[in-house]
Formats: sequence, C-alpha cells, structure tokens
Amino acid sequence: MPEMAEVQRGLQDVVALESRICFIDGRQGRLIYQGYDIRDLAARSTFEEVAYLLWYGRLPTATQLEDLHRRFGELRTLPDELGQRIDQMPVGAHPMDILRTAVSALALFEPEETKPGASSIGGAQRLTAVLPSILGQFHRRRSRLPPLKPRPELSQAAYLLYALVDREPTELESRALDVALILHADHELNASTFAARVTASTLSDLYSAVTSAVGTLKGPLHGGANERVMELLDEIGQVDRTEEVVKAKLVRHERIMGFGHRVYKVEDPRATILREWSRKLGEAKGDLRSYELLRALEAVVHQEKGLYPNVDLYSGSIYSLLGVPRDLFTPIFAASRVAGWTAHVLEEYQDLRLIRPTAKYVGAVDLPYVPVSQRG
Ligand code: CMC
Repeated sequence: MPEMAEVQRGLQDVVALESRICFIDGRQGRLIYQGYDIRDLAARSTFEEVAYLLWYGRLPTATQLEDLHRRFGELRTLPDELGQRIDQMPVGAHPMDILRTAVSALALFEPEETKPGASSIGGAQRLTAVLPSILGQFHRRRSRLPPLKPRPELSQAAYLLYALVDREPTELESRALDVALILHADHELNASTFAARVTASTLSDLYSAVTSAVGTLKGPLHGGANERVMELLDEIGQVDRTEEVVKAKLVRHERIMGFGHRVYKVEDPRATILREWSRKLGEAKGDLRSYELLRALEAVVHQEKGLYPNVDLYSGSIYSLLGVPRDLFTPIFAASRVAGWTAHVLEEYQDLRLIRPTAKYVGAVDLPYVPVSQRG
C-alpha cells in the first residue's frame, strides 16, 4: 500500500478552510467575531447586534437593528403542523432530541427554504428566531405552563426566558442571558459548526446543516458539558468536599466537565466574563452557593491538572439562577450558536469545496473470499 501522511487524530491543528467570521487566539485567550473583541461585544452589544455582525460582517445601524428586532418577532411563530407534532413528542425526551427532530421537521413545512441554492440570511433569521419557540412549545407542555405567545416586543434573550420560565425577566436577568447568548454565538470550527459546514459543503440546505449541528452539539464533550457541571456541583455538595471528589474522579481517569479546551491554552475569555455574571446574579439573588462551589472547583482542578475553565463551567450556574431547568442548558447554547452555524453555512456556500478528508487504512488487504456455506 502507498505510504500515507501521519494521522492528525481529531483533526487537531489541521487548518481546514479560510473564514472571516471568528478568530480564536488560544495562547492569548482572545476571541474575535468579525474583527470585534468578545469583551467589547459582551460589555456593550446585544445578541441581535452580534447575530447581524456574524451574518453581514458589520455591526448594524440603528435602523438595521430595529428591522432585525421586527423580523425576529415576525419569525417566531411555529407552523401549526409543527406545533402539533411537538405536542405529540414524548414529554420524557431530552430537549436536545426534540430540538434536533423539530428543526428537521420544520424543513418539511418550509420546503422553499430547502431547495438547492435557496439558503439565505432569511433562512438564518428564521432558524434563529424559531429555536426558542420550539423549546418553549415543548417545555411549556411538559411543565403545564400556559401556551406560548410570540411576544414581538421582547428581545431574543427576554423571549427565550419568557418561553422557558413563563415570567417577565428583570433587566438584570435578561442582560445576563443576553451576555451568555453573545458569548456562545460562535467559536470558529468547533465540532458542531464543522458538522454544519460539512453538510453544507455537499450543497445540502441550511436546515439540514443545522440539524447536523444540533446533533453534534448535544455530546458531553461539546455543548452537553454545562448540564454535567451542575451534576458535579450536586455531587460535591459543599466547598470542603471539592478536593476529595475531584481527586477521586481523576484517579478513575474521569474528565472534569467545564475544564480544558482544544484551542485555549490559557483561560477561555468567555469563562472570565461568565464568572463575573455568575457572581453578579448570585449576589442580586442572595444565592452565591454555585458560584462559591465553582470557585473552589476551579482552584482544585488547576492545582491537580493545570486545567483552565471553559465556557461551560459558569453558564449552568447562571441559567440555574434564572430558574431554567438543567436539561435546557444545552438547548440555550444551541439557541445562540445557531447564529454562528448559519453564518458559517452561508460562508461555506460562498467558497464551496466538498469537505472530504482521507483516512489512513489500518485494516487487512487481499483476504481470500470464502463462500458463506464454507465459513465456520
Ligand atoms: N478533565 C480531566 N482531564 C482532562 C480534561 C478534563 N476536563 N480535559 C483534558 N484533560 C486531559 C486529558 O485526560 C488528557 O490527559 P492525558 O494526556 O494524561 O491523557 C489531556 O488533558 C489532553 O486531553 P485531550 O482530550 O487530548 O484534549 P482535547 O483537546 O481533545 O480536549 C476537551 C478538549 C474539551 C474535549 C477536553 O478538555 C474535555 O473533555 N473537557 C471536558 C468536557 C468539556 O468541558 N467540554 C466543553 C468544551 S468547551 C465548549 C464547547 O466546545 O462545547
């Protein structure tokens, strides 16, 4: 067999394509969306501005932003048939499974969007507007909350909170979620975005690409980590048990969720910002329990493994303080990342090349074929 190049397991350090959307400086701990530092965006912008930035490559004017707010409000309503189908889905299902199935089913009721070449920023806006509605439709039924209304006057963050907890969020609460949505909106070629781009690179449609991405985000090594972090806090229970619990896990070679990253060699800048929000919201609500446990966890994991926190460490504590059930943490990640997924898919269509790597074959060759009747 011909000699093959060395395998880059997990495609680590492989530069697969050029992109203008997002830059991660893993050594300096910097994250840039379309030229803007995430710290500026988290301090000064909104999720709507960031979604616009990712899709159009520039920040919106006041009129463009107002138009986008209006579009999101108009695009929140689910097709009746989809609402009915979500109502028939098992209430015990994980909301990420509901989301994956519902995004795929949405395409059946919006066939124009799935025709080859039809994918556009309009489709990106529709998917971004509608994800909170899918989650609200499912969660409200299983929790016996009143039916969802489109509430066009609400920002995406406030609408998502209304959809999931059925109350008017305070300004601080909706800002906390808005910042979390900004921080999760894109992250270069992470696994789910790569999955979306692979799908798009076959000239498949936007809805198929986002369906692939939702399925990929679900895994605990990617978006599913935030839910697991809160389970770990339950296991630890109190600050003085942190060291014992972490050491026992490391002896069993278990991963500590919310730590480590393929690209960041220093602290993930999103974790730095979310840590502050976890404290701020905890103080406002008079509940710093999760924050204090997470601080203790950070110290022990750094001492034992030299690992830094990633975006998933503090997000769950913020969502818990907002009253969101745990199995909706990863879906919130999806409701934000959909802006990045769709921006990448649209970029992929602009500079399309089928993504198709090769494998190093390590199996047998030239085996003699034995007819089935003679196999023992
Ligand atoms: N806990 C314990 N050990 C870890 C962890 C962790 N969280 N992360 C990395 N390591 C160790 C790993 O065991 C390995 O050690 P050794 O060389 O002794 O076998 C070494 O660090 C390198 O690990 P790796 O798996 O080769 O590194 P990677 O670049 O593939 O891992 C990662 C990246 C995110 C999969 C990993 O850090 C991890 O599993 N973290 C926990 C899950 C998590 O928090 N995921 C969210 C990631 S950020 C948001 C997102 O993208 O969704």
